[in-house]
Amino acid sequence: MAFDFLTTKKNLPVLGVGLGLRRELAHETFNNADKIDWLELVPENYMDLGGMARERLEQANSAFPLVTHGVNLSIGSTDPLSETYLKSLKKLLDTIDAPWFSDHLCFTSIGGHYLHDLLPLPASKEAIQHVVKRIKIVQDCIERPLLLENISYYMNMPGSELTEVQFLSDVLEKADCGLLLDVNNVYVNSINHNFDPYKYLNALPIERTVQMHVAGHSHGEEMIIDTHGNPVIEPVFELLDYVLARVPVNAVMLERDQNYPEFSEILDELHQIRTIAANYQPRLANLKPGSTCASTSETEQASPSSEMTPDRDRDGHDADVIRMNSDTKRLVKRGARA
Ligand SMILES: [Fe+2]
Repeated sequence: MAFDFLTTKKNLPVLGVGLGLRRELAHETFNNADKIDWLELVPENYMDLGGMARERLEQANSAFPLVTHGVNLSIGSTDPLSETYLKSLKKLLDTIDAPWFSDHLCFTSIGGHYLHDLLPLPASKEAIQHVVKRIKIVQDCIERPLLLENISYYMNMPGSELTEVQFLSDVLEKADCGLLLDVNNVYVNSINHNFDPYKYLNALPIERTVQMHVAGHSHGEEMIIDTHGNPVIEPVFELLDYVLARVPVNAVMLERDQNYPEFSEILDELHQIRTIAANYQPRLANLKPGSTCASTSETEQASPSSEMTPDRDRDGHDADVIRMNSDTKRLVKRGARA
């Protein structure tokens, strides 16, 4: 599929503030559908499955816009891309009408064996060429944009000749694909590898950001670890603020994967994200039923370099608005097809 990514981004829907769909949180997630705009699910947990997983997927699909965030694509591996995986993934993406698909800039398999970990690639020119070729194949297969996430990493791979931010930036630009920017990963890496997270963000083509992740982390003996098992800390919210002040973003979500708190704490964190978004991107912040927001099928996102004018939201989105109602999901999904 040939396209210019930044043009494509303008036609992607603004989904708002979402949460990862987790089995342990599913009941309360569905009960709080009026406070959560959209859900992100792990496709490997739903592809080709029936039973409870299928039921949960159908329930989620009837109530929320959905996107998927994979862990098994293994875009950087030297193993061949799995045709079986890509076919099943495409079927799921079509079923839920997902506007995009995301996975990580990493490898998760070697010699045909899955490693159950997101491992960093050597930051080399050879690896860039390899990944760029595979991104194009994946996008052709799934017929929608692929976003790659910046991972947290705990060692620099041998063979690296570039910094991580140069490597990520080159991959995004050479493949002309989108970014899923995880600001907790930026923070964790900045502490573990001793760099300035703001300089990192300034060096990235953040205008390619479609989706963002916000999460908490834990303190290990020598490093901090990206566990998604603690509350989000203020410096991570500050990084979110920094990005949202600078580029239009289509979706922000909270990742919580263990050490689950009372659901009210999760709702509080979603509210904090929404409050930050409201300072710069009202449309991103106000997608709850009954709130005023724009349909991307009828409006256009500004280019990242656009001047903010009275006719535009502060994020640069076109300020034409419609009233969202119980048809929110249908409208948002229609935007995905625009
Ligand atoms: Fe993430």
